[in-house]
Amino acid sequence: MRIPVIAGNWKMFNTVGESLALVRDLKAQVADAQGVQIVVAPVFTAIHAVAAELKGSNIAVSSQDVYWEETGAFTGEVGPAMLKDAGCAYAIIGHSERRQFFGETDDTVNKKVKAALKAGLIPIMCVGELLEEREAGKTMQVVEKQVKGGITGISSDDIAKIIIAYEPVWAIGTGKTATPAQAQEVHKAIRALIAALAGTQVAVGLRILYGGSVKADNVDVLMREEDIDGALVGGASLKADSFARIVKFSK
Ligand code: 13P
Repeated sequence: MRIPVIAGNWKMFNTVGESLALVRDLKAQVADAQGVQIVVAPVFTAIHAVAAELKGSNIAVSSQDVYWEETGAFTGEVGPAMLKDAGCAYAIIGHSERRQFFGETDDTVNKKVKAALKAGLIPIMCVGELLEEREAGKTMQVVEKQVKGGITGISSDDIAKIIIAYEPVWAIGTGKTATPAQAQEVHKAIRALIAALAGTQVAVGLRILYGGSVKADNVDVLMREEDIDGALVGGASLKADSFARIVKFSK
């Protein structure tokens, strides 16, 4: 009932030329994939070219961030309508690398999620705990605060359009994947929280992706968990072969 989403976050990799080569290869490899929404998130400079290359295909384009104002004197930022215009359908918001290195807070995430929704972009809102928070038994406390903070003031109808990505920070780029049971526990709790905040119907339809060292050889077991509705993939999305295998996960 929930269509799975497999999204590739390319982070700060790939020139325009490299991006185009990657999506040409990918497009051919996943042309027959059905029942899954495929998304790639290039750097800002490659979005337009990648979106043009993917026009008419079964792969959509996301940004890796978005600013909350439409236009203005905000040097270095890109607004939601501009991303839509360049060919994006999705926007990754609040990735842990932005929280860690660029001062992203629950408040800025909230503003960005609202702005993305207003422009018709689907937010992929990222949450996740640090290793020390997990070890201190604070995982759910941290994730709840991030989810609540990110969707403050958003109507249930709009919450229904959001995708949440649970990415435990200790699992990102480390080769250390959360076990399916560890991920499932948090995903289930996020769904219960959304049920409490926006109603059961919204919660039942909400896509919750797992991210953190998802690879071709662990995607299947993760996707077998009831509340895991897809993956946000970093490193393994940079090669067409491995990303295509992830897209074609089997439960
Ligand atoms: P890796 O798959 O490289 O661990 O990255 C995960 C991630 O941060 C996706 O947004």
